[in-house]
Amino acid sequence: MYKKVTVIGAGNVGATTAQRIAEKDLADVVLIDIAEGIPQGKGLDLLESAPIEGFHSRIQGTRDYDMTRDSDLVIVTAGIPRKPGMSRDDLIATNAKIVSTVVKEAVLRSPDAILLLVTNPLDVMCFVAKKASGFPREKVIGMAGVLDAARFRTFLSMELDVSAENISALVLGGHGDSMVPMPRYTTVAGIPITELLPAKTIEALIRRTRDGGAEIVNLIKTGSAFYAPSSAVTEMAEAILKDQKKILPCSVYLMGEYGIQGVFIGVPVKLGAGGVEKIIEIKLTDEEQRLLNISADAVRSIVLKLDVEV
Ligand code: APR
Repeated sequence: MYKKVTVIGAGNVGATTAQRIAEKDLADVVLIDIAEGIPQGKGLDLLESAPIEGFHSRIQGTRDYDMTRDSDLVIVTAGIPRKPGMSRDDLIATNAKIVSTVVKEAVLRSPDAILLLVTNPLDVMCFVAKKASGFPREKVIGMAGVLDAARFRTFLSMELDVSAENISALVLGGHGDSMVPMPRYTTVAGIPITELLPAKTIEALIRRTRDGGAEIVNLIKTGSAFYAPSSAVTEMAEAILKDQKKILPCSVYLMGEYGIQGVFIGVPVKLGAGGVEKIIEIKLTDEEQRLLNISADAVRSIVLKLDVEV
């Protein structure tokens, strides 16, 4: 039997994620949104691509949470995206209310599901989802590091003129300005980039990665990135659905790891059928630890300011 995935939010990220999951035949997909007609229309349109694309996943679009019953995985993309000039944090109050509502509806019908969060500001929305669901930390995971690392890999591949597939990148910390890229652990066919590029170039590529979301928003203007974000969340979904035990940078709730307590932040984790199966602690330099602490403090300060009933 196919696994079942619910994608909440049938906008750019949600619908593209549903498409990627279906085209990889990873699971049946329920696409749900508050907007009348959009999830049904996009769901049917996607299903009608199956005979040509040759996938067997069944896709249903709906506004009715009862159709999400017994999902193995719930992916939350519902919310409002950024417009030019807005930071991810400008979305907090609205998206916290949305995330809290949809998570409660979903977990009521799928108490054994794993939650994958995409809605921004990501690390804060993970906290909202954890609170709204009452789930243990293994089952609430945020997508940020995989996307940030993919952007870093892309820019490195353009700079070095080598296949992006050859590049393995590690990015820690919050999704946004306080992201902590790790050049020491970023390699091209095993060679650290610190041996291949001058520090100034690496610094410039890191800056571009950090501003990667804003770069897209400024180009598109009416919305934010969705191709790479949907690819990133699909990689995480696949690791969980297929119990791949893949090591990926994800936003998880730390309870003392890296000396950080009670906040969601991006660190390398092992993803498998159980969700977060292990948090991997790597040795950081004093400077890297300092940056990670700043990142955690930034997320914590927003969570403390949340005046939404979650
Ligand atoms: N329940 C279900 N769906 C909702 C709700 C709700 N309460 N509120 C809003 N939505 C839906 C909208 O109707 C819309 O279809 O969420 C969808 C969001 O889609 P887009 O506006 O296209 O935004 P998108 O680009 O998909 O980004 C969604 O992901 O990457 C993050 O920052 C981004 O927070 C944003 C989220």
